[in-house]
Amino acid sequence: MAVFNRLPVLLILFYSFGLALGGRVSITNNGYRDIVVAISPDVPQDKAADLLANIQKIITEASADLYTATRQRSYINSVRILIPQSWVNIAANPNTWESFENAEVQIDLPNSKYGDSPYTVQLGGCGDPGQYIHLTPNYVMTHSSNAMISQVGPAGKAFVKEWAKLRYGVFDEHGYTGANSSYPTFYRPGSGQQPIEMVPNVCSDQPVDFSIDNGCSVDPQTGLYNSNCMYSFLNTFKPTSSIMSDNRMLSTAMHFCDDDPSSLHKHNREAPTKQNAFCNSHSVWSVISKHADFAGYNNPPATIANVKPTFNVVRVLTGARYVLVTDVSGSMDSYNRIGRLNEAARRWIKYDVRHGTSLGIVKFSSTASMLSPMTVVNDNTRQQLMDKIPTSTEGVTCIGCGLQIALDMLRPGGKGGVIVLVTDGMENQNPYIADMYPQLLDAQVQVVSLAFGRAAEKEIEVLATKTDGMSYFINDDGQNDELHDAFTGSLTYQPAVPIGELTVILFQQKYNKGNMFEDYVTVDFTVGRSLTFRLEYTQRNYITGFFVKSPSGQVYQNVIYDSSAKLAYILIPDLAEEGDWKFTLTVNSAYYKDYASVIVTSKSRVNTAAPITVDCSVPSGTVVYNSANAVRLVAVVKQGRNRVIGANVRAYVETPTAALDVVDLEDTGAGADTTKNDGIYSRFYVPVSLTGRYTLVCKVNSTGTTYIENGSTTRQRSAMGNFNRVQSGGAFRVEQPKTSPYPPSRVTDLKVAAMQVDQMSLTIEWTATGDELDIGTASAYQIKYSTTFDDLMDNNFDSNLAVQFQSHDVIDGSFTPLAFGNKQRVSLRLPTTAEDVTYYVALRAVNQRGLTSTISNVVSVKIAALTQPQTQPPTTPVPPPTSSSLNVGCSGVLTTPTGWLTSPNYPGAYPNNYNCQWTIQLTPGSKIRLTFSHFAIESPFDYVEVYDGSTISATRLLKQTGSTLPSAPVNSSSNAMLVRFVTDATGNYFRGWRATYTVA
Ligand SMILES: *[C@@H]1O[C@H](CO)[C@@H](O)[C@H](O)[C@H]1NC(C)=O
Repeated sequence: MAVFNRLPVLLILFYSFGLALGGRVSITNNGYRDIVVAISPDVPQDKAADLLANIQKIITEASADLYTATRQRSYINSVRILIPQSWVNIAANPNTWESFENAEVQIDLPNSKYGDSPYTVQLGGCGDPGQYIHLTPNYVMTHSSNAMISQVGPAGKAFVKEWAKLRYGVFDEHGYTGANSSYPTFYRPGSGQQPIEMVPNVCSDQPVDFSIDNGCSVDPQTGLYNSNCMYSFLNTFKPTSSIMSDNRMLSTAMHFCDDDPSSLHKHNREAPTKQNAFCNSHSVWSVISKHADFAGYNNPPATIANVKPTFNVVRVLTGARYVLVTDVSGSMDSYNRIGRLNEAARRWIKYDVRHGTSLGIVKFSSTASMLSPMTVVNDNTRQQLMDKIPTSTEGVTCIGCGLQIALDMLRPGGKGGVIVLVTDGMENQNPYIADMYPQLLDAQVQVVSLAFGRAAEKEIEVLATKTDGMSYFINDDGQNDELHDAFTGSLTYQPAVPIGELTVILFQQKYNKGNMFEDYVTVDFTVGRSLTFRLEYTQRNYITGFFVKSPSGQVYQNVIYDSSAKLAYILIPDLAEEGDWKFTLTVNSAYYKDYASVIVTSKSRVNTAAPITVDCSVPSGTVVYNSANAVRLVAVVKQGRNRVIGANVRAYVETPTAALDVVDLEDTGAGADTTKNDGIYSRFYVPVSLTGRYTLVCKVNSTGTTYIENGSTTRQRSAMGNFNRVQSGGAFRVEQPKTSPYPPSRVTDLKVAAMQVDQMSLTIEWTATGDELDIGTASAYQIKYSTTFDDLMDNNFDSNLAVQFQSHDVIDGSFTPLAFGNKQRVSLRLPTTAEDVTYYVALRAVNQRGLTSTISNVVSVKIAALTQPQTQPPTTPVPPPTSSSLNVGCSGVLTTPTGWLTSPNYPGAYPNNYNCQWTIQLTPGSKIRLTFSHFAIESPFDYVEVYDGSTISATRLLKQTGSTLPSAPVNSSSNAMLVRFVTDATGNYFRGWRATYTVA
């Protein structure tokens, strides 16, 4: 049996985030062309025909809705639906360039966090395109059911909402429930808005007619409805904007909100939505109209009689088509590049390229020639293809010559195909890369560029970016195993495989100094089939030992050597035991260029469940033209469609001088990270101070609090144990290094945590930003307020219209900056006021060099003036409630071990003529400690008394009046305590008191 049958072919599924950005969708004469809707190979075929019909219905509806929403400036002209290879009963054309990973819309099994609701993966900020829209098969099938329409809205508009996020980089204009939400479901608008106190957090052209859902209560801390409170719209509410707002508005809403004051769809700048937080309070339409599709009179409004898209169903062909185009010019001799390339390419062909892929080989120097025509890779052809890889060099560098031959080889198979281009030199002969762009783009060919050494032609990364490809850099003396990463990374473009066939990299390490290496790798509960320890080496004779030990101590030392590919491996039979696997590698070489790489891979534990994967990338693409736009590093960690939250994600960036920078990627929703706890981990990469190529590798493991977001509650979650993953993120080339430091990144999650009306203060919270973007510690925060929203916007922030909080305004906490990612919390004093007033608050950070961040999102609090109290107590006595807290009524029994009570109507003025009595009655043997936190009553006529027992005949422990807090907690000697509050007949404007009790 041929040796390569035993080593599993590496099938790695990347969602190559660096690539999908430009997308391949074009817009011509107002029509979007070639939108790809791809169906995952995990979607069963049984309802295929219905699914396809429903996809067409949804997108046809969406095209008409998009035409209206974009004011007759765009519609969907053509769509290609990519079906899995296994769907054999459907009539379809063969696919050529379409792929699941690069599709704009992915039809796949649900992500538990979103269920059947459509969503869009957005890694970037305002105006940055998203990655893809995810629709579930169940959503597609049931989109027109009443239940789905009431949850998601009519499908066409729901699709336009997601399309706007994907294409134009805009965000939701509504709040979300939950205590951790930065975007509340309600807010208090300023006087310019509706006269009502609290309104749903949406953008709407009409005043919102709504009712509060049952079970809502006002949180006395914030004065807002509690974070799980929802609202329902009344039937009278028929808004026509915004399509980005609450899904329940979509039955009538069909327009985007607009900044233009004369617009019928006036934007609501004050609503604390994600759109306002990320787009600096600019409207969705203003962001869309600046998009390249529409800027500068592109695609002006046009009357289009037929906006119905055409659909073309294509099926995945058996294999992808690759042409390896390699440089054999004289310089490939230096550093033995030609030799290393030869070895890596041979390994790739023998072990990694999937069965059924078509592969051709081209070499170029001053001219180019075909070394092997397009050949289907199988057990019989692998060796013959390997033998075609060049081993010697000649002449000068004509990259265009090589590309031309590769294009000619791919053309008979239709559009599409991948060129893997390897070069180490500058092109110096016609035709040049730039001459090839029209042909390459027309043929929809993707180029994966491998730059060998620092002097490699700079245009190759541009080539990769323009063709939606990827870039790799092979440093002649680098620390990462870049050649392996580059070749396996190019396999991204193979068709998607079912989750059971996916292979993931658990561990990867290059060893080149020392003589004995021991390391371990964890086999977690999501992997274990085909566990393989792969060893790539430069010299067979210096590998003197390689063995593996299972968690229970079993030793595996059956190493299979393949000298022709300079590779050895140990394959663990059956299902590998969960736990830590240890390997020992012994080498015997003094030659500094020798190295050995250990790569540990595995498939999922069972073939019906996905392994945990990580996708690592620089979403802005492979060329950084100007470092003024900061580079963002991103890793997405997931199991199938479900995201992994709370993992430890580290990016290793190798700089042009081969130094290694280590950056912890965070999922805090701050700095480079868009959304907290969504399994997308991001960070800015700040030290881009050198021109040249940088390579990125991400490593992930778990912490004690890592979990998979699979719909289970916090309580149901159990510790998931450790796991390890490694993934290359390719290379990026910096053309213009940064010349001056960055300012701190913007705070987008400022929120009001509490307000204390009786002290005229508010407590705000945000995630600390950094000194440069999201790295380090800022040197100060400027926190300002005003009663007018616009006073905090743009240049007004610097004017006297906005008042800055000073250190003497701090009541609790501090606004001294903490290191990036920490929670900042401070309570600040507001000026007293006799009338109802809304205060707006925003902040910005200043760094050590005096650079300031952009102004944060704006939050508001409403301080209600005291109203005249009622003068009579309620006529019907209220039966004493039994609970842990009482802030209404005037008497009751509290029996829970801790609780709180307040004067009636607190923090509003309390009523006259009251004689209230509350009893705290705990289990026998316990004692009670009562602590007042606020105290303001009319002296001397109103007073509070506390008794050491359940009646007023017991010993009195306290009698208090006026505005001074009792100096110490009040302690009972037994398990009962009576609190009495007496008020007289005259009106007052005091806010009363609040106290908490615990078991002493
Ligand atoms: C996870 O990785 C970090 C480095 O990123 C390391 O310090 C830590 O020990 C690892 N945890 C486990 C459980 O292996």
